[in-house]
Amino acid sequence: MSIPVIIDCDPGIDDVMALLLAFVRPELDIRLITTEAGNQTQDKTAYNARSFLSYMNQEIEVARGLEQPLFVNLEVADDVHGESGLGDVIFPEPNFAESDRTAINALYETIMTSDEPIVLIATGPLTNIGALLLAHPEVKENIRYISFMGGAAVGGNMSPTAEFNVYVDPHAADVVFRSGIPIVMSGLDVTHKAFLDEQDLKRIEAIGTDLTTTLVELMTFYTKAATQTAFHEENFATNVRLHDLCAVGYVVEPELFQGDDCYVAIETQGELTKGTTVVDYAQSLPHAKNVHVLHTVNREKFVDMFIDAIKNAEQLIKGGHSHVEKN
Ligand code: RIB
Ligand code: CA
Repeated sequence: MSIPVIIDCDPGIDDVMALLLAFVRPELDIRLITTEAGNQTQDKTAYNARSFLSYMNQEIEVARGLEQPLFVNLEVADDVHGESGLGDVIFPEPNFAESDRTAINALYETIMTSDEPIVLIATGPLTNIGALLLAHPEVKENIRYISFMGGAAVGGNMSPTAEFNVYVDPHAADVVFRSGIPIVMSGLDVTHKAFLDEQDLKRIEAIGTDLTTTLVELMTFYTKAATQTAFHEENFATNVRLHDLCAVGYVVEPELFQGDDCYVAIETQGELTKGTTVVDYAQSLPHAKNVHVLHTVNREKFVDMFIDAIKNAEQLIKGGHSHVEKN
């Protein structure tokens, strides 16, 4: 039984690994890719999505989203994902053009014409989806749920309490979390546990292909950069956190994860707390539960799922690719 999905992303090193996983899983019927400004500017994330998908020998509509968050200035994560958004790896030029539809139009038309409800997989800020819901609230009727990498019940990576994707556009996140659409939130609580350790990296390196060389280069950049930033995660120097893969992984293998249903609200005002996902575990607020907040993952099986995906990706990447250079 295939699951119709749209992936809204800000590639971004972990975003491209999430795209790799999504494109090799037969369960997913990927209808559209839309790009967010987040890890890098919209120009760069839109280019990176097409460039990586071309490298993967995939051609699918990639529609660019808004250039800026709804009400605040864009803050990119060039300190973690690099100037290009993909570290110092250069993928081949895209071999297909950008969609002539905007992300909002493409999202609206794809959702409203789908013969069954769509799962939205969101691995970046929620600007496009927030704007879509403001412009076309009727899309809610044909969205099954949103699998979102973002937020945190405890801690943050952009401030002591805010995670990057929500921090970049808290107002868009507020629109989405108030929408009534079911949300499965892969926040830092679970993504901190979804990591590759040195043994896992050695397993990937041992596959010994152009793809694995490239992935290790991307992950090395990502891990090295992250140790010098606001990330306050323990043993970040060695472990590669596969944040965005959780949003895809949950859709294809939900049994690997555990979570709780909670009321979650977005702090949009606080000087110190802007972008915080306030997770009401104690049910102290008079609001209905709107989010399934993930907190645990079977890490070994999650890593096996990713490594299997890497091996299967080789089927997609037909010969003839020039080696992916490094800057
Ligand atoms: O906080 C991690 C999230 O921010 C991931 O989606 C990563 O790609 C960045 O966008
Ligand atoms: Ca991302």
